[in-house]
Amino acid sequence: MQWLEEELRRIQEQHLFRKRKLRESLKDFCSNDYLALRDHPEVKEEVIKTLKDYGLGSGASALVSGYTKQHKALEEKLSSFKEVPSCLLFGSGYLANIGTIPALASEGDLILSDQLNHASIIDACRLSKAKVLVFPHLDYQNAEELLKENRKHYRRCLIVSDSVFSMDGDVAHLPTLLRFADEYDCMLFLDEAHATGILGQRGKGIFEEFNLKWQERVILMGTLSKAVGSYGAFVCSSEKLIEYLINKARSFIFSTSLPPAICAGAKKAIEIAEREPWRVQRVKNLAESIYKELSKIGFSVKFHHTPILPIMLYSEEKAISLSEALFEKGVLLQAIRYPTVPKGEARLRLTASLRYTEEDLEFLYTSLKTLPHLPLTSLPFP
Ligand SMILES: Cc1ncc(COP(=O)(O)O)c(C=O)c1O
Repeated sequence: MQWLEEELRRIQEQHLFRKRKLRESLKDFCSNDYLALRDHPEVKEEVIKTLKDYGLGSGASALVSGYTKQHKALEEKLSSFKEVPSCLLFGSGYLANIGTIPALASEGDLILSDQLNHASIIDACRLSKAKVLVFPHLDYQNAEELLKENRKHYRRCLIVSDSVFSMDGDVAHLPTLLRFADEYDCMLFLDEAHATGILGQRGKGIFEEFNLKWQERVILMGTLSKAVGSYGAFVCSSEKLIEYLINKARSFIFSTSLPPAICAGAKKAIEIAEREPWRVQRVKNLAESIYKELSKIGFSVKFHHTPILPIMLYSEEKAISLSEALFEKGVLLQAIRYPTVPKGEARLRLTASLRYTEEDLEFLYTSLKTLPHLPLTSLPFP
């Protein structure tokens, strides 16, 4: 097929070609397992025990026969951890977003979305058929102007933002978003994929970070696949809203529920995070020390007191060649390029994780210092 070869060549020429790397023989510095919970002995034990009881798959969607005590217990745990009345499990974060957002806003409604929201939010907005207005990243003045001009022309309004932006590590300003929701009669949807287990003293998320309490017009989505170290996702809000999603969110209705053992493992991981709040503080301290070390070496790194530390290279070609050079040394640090980030904003997305030992970090720093493309100090800050 001619078109296929041409497409692939075009992707290659733009330095945007993607390929997977087997992780086993590499030292992974880009996972989202921030709190090192995915292979915690208690988590593994809980998963094995539940697997023996239930077997592997759930067997059906939650509305057929795929809803078990394990699912219910995890939803209740999430609801108490997030301090929100009710939570609903989804198969993944992608599924949670593409199911929930179109259930909340459709034709005749308005969605206001931050420019750097995750791809699953962008796809969800497209699916919704609502009018979507995108404001420049964290530019709330611009967002308010859009609301002032447009809100009155639409029935419902939904403001959508990541809590922690996945490729930059910066944090949405919750008080401003809540004020918009109040003043312009909007719902506020927050994607807590990278905030759950990270923001706030105990990792509860953006409300704890800003010392605020959940409010009825807020819908919190989060994943179990990052700091919780498992798989799957959840949406938390009022009991009525969750009842509505059970009836309306197509990716919930028409998709098999999570395996029970995964639910049990995720619940155990949340219990460990609650019991050991030092993990949250330690990963943030670690992120700060990695940031300082990389800055000393001469890299331009973004740091917002979260574990996401993008090493900015801007050029797609440079990002891919550094990532390959690191791979040769045994370091897994993938190049993040368009369309995950805007063109000319390529980076290596390094993350802080409690998985790293002192030796791992020394290995990372030495590998970065001995890259063939140094000196990098000449790389411009934007
Ligand atoms: C902000 C954000 N939302 C949603 C997702 C999707 O979550 P999942 O990987 O569970 O599908 C991700 C993960 O890549 C993410 O970073």
